[in-house]
Amino acid sequence: EYIRLMHGLTDLEEELASKLKLKRVVIIPGDSEEDQAARRELGRAAAGVLSQYLGNNSTIAVSGGSTMAVVAEAVQASAAAVTVVPARGGLGEEVEFQANTVASVMAAKLGGRYRMLHIPDGLSEKSLEIILENDSNMRMVADMIRHADILIHGIGQAREMAVRRNMSEAAVAEILATGAVGEALGHYCSLQGEIVYVTNSVGLRLDELESIGLVVAVAGGSDKAQAIVAVTSAGGQSVLVTDEAAARRVRTII
Ligand code: F6P
Repeated sequence: EYIRLMHGLTDLEEELASKLKLKRVVIIPGDSEEDQAARRELGRAAAGVLSQYLGNNSTIAVSGGSTMAVVAEAVQASAAAVTVVPARGGLGEEVEFQANTVASVMAAKLGGRYRMLHIPDGLSEKSLEIILENDSNMRMVADMIRHADILIHGIGQAREMAVRRNMSEAAVAEILATGAVGEALGHYCSLQGEIVYVTNSVGLRLDELESIGLVVAVAGGSDKAQAIVAVTSAGGQSVLVTDEAAARRVRTII
């Protein structure tokens, strides 16, 4: 607390919360992109926010990504019976970054249960529909995701995420040409919060988060400042957990 006051982080938290129209912003000191200790601290702060809102029989939907992997590791055992589900499936990423993986790690730490979404990547809307129609387990998980009490997710830079998902150079250029700077849940957003491209998948949509009780975004590092503004401007977000490096840069662009 002393460190936060010393760095003026409490004022910055309030300023960003009001400008980004969020319930709450939590800023940890330092730069989580440069410093492993700060990175773990970001994870701990997000895990702390999560624990404050966990109720009995809560369903938590989680995204993938390296930040969320750190959050999952930081989570502590909960007395509440919770189930963790991936927020969205099949975004075309490495196993350790997948939401399924984060969900299973977080569930183990919480002492809760998890459900997975096994969806191949790159399916058409039509194929997804057919799978959902024919696979009752998948339908049930999709339903749990839609009714999640808490969503906790990462935010990434549009270019980095498009490249990480092995999109062709032409596809990456096309997405960037639409003005995309940030990405969350497979949704690419412009700085103004307009959703300009969506990866086909099953699960939560960034523009349909009103039914989720609490939406927590976790992202740090000054390079993610634009992405943070883009995704929080798209709406539906309640809490942002970030670091000082990102927060100070965000302040210069809002
Ligand atoms: O791919 C899942 C995801 O949560 C993306 O939506 C987000 O942009 C990204 O991970 C963040 O990844 P990282 O924490 O590794 O920067």
